[in-house]
Amino acid sequence: MAAALPSLTPLLIFARIFGLLVAVLVFVWAFVFSSSFGHPPSRDDHLFDVLHPLFMIIGLVLISGEAISVHSWLPGSRNLRKSVHLSLQGLALASGISGIWTKFHWDRGFLANFHSLHSWMGLVVITLFGAQWMMGFLSFWHWREVRATRERVLPWHVFFGLYSYALAVVTAETGLLEKLTLLQTKRNVPRKGPEAMVVNSLGLSLALLTGTVMLIAISPKYPPSLPTTKQQQQPFFSNSKPLSS
Ligand code: HEM
Repeated sequence: MAAALPSLTPLLIFARIFGLLVAVLVFVWAFVFSSSFGHPPSRDDHLFDVLHPLFMIIGLVLISGEAISVHSWLPGSRNLRKSVHLSLQGLALASGISGIWTKFHWDRGFLANFHSLHSWMGLVVITLFGAQWMMGFLSFWHWREVRATRERVLPWHVFFGLYSYALAVVTAETGLLEKLTLLQTKRNVPRKGPEAMVVNSLGLSLALLTGTVMLIAISPKYPPSLPTTKQQQQPFFSNSKPLSS
């Protein structure tokens, strides 16, 4: 049983507030400024264009942030937390794959859009997420797993998990910048207009959310006054149950 430490509660509340802000701002951008999505003169691909930021920000970034923080607040057994973590990361990965798929509907073909830093980083992020999910699945759930292997793999799982999450946010920021620049240069969207305010606030909220989620992830998850086992002394470990259990 791992209830959130009192010291983590404000961080968890801030993460929820920033997450909610991010979700509201993406929806406001997608639905209030919906004419910014699609590729004129044809508007046929409007849906795919608007789905890309929705899948990427709400699906990939917000859900994987939730998956990371689950270890810090979800009460119940270690196995419950592991399965919720893995399911949420699976959902985030599926959203990321769907988000990239939305871009393959343009007539220009599969490779035509891979010209930007954003698209290259996007591919790296999805590849990392996919590999990370498979490794997590194999090392934490495989029935033949051995304690020594899991102990070796866990720090790498934590490192690559945080690294992929941070890269996903950076990629989303480059996507926001690229889209806004396109709108400002090709469609005369004002640089200080309401749409620019919404997108800039979205980018800022994403940055605040990421910092909070990373702080939650690296914070110790056990009270310092409790007697600690060797495992508990490592801040990245989420509970006190031995790995062999
Ligand atoms: C973690 C988040 C994101 C990832 C992993 C990601 C990934 C990708 C990838 C792989 C492509 C290239 C696919 C193609 O064009 O055929 C792409 C294109 C694009 N994305 Fe994203 N994206 C993310 C977030 C965003 C956001 C938030 C926006 C804002 C609207 C955005 C806007 C665009 C645009 C305008 C393109 C087409 C131009 C280009 O290829 O650079 N992306 N994205």
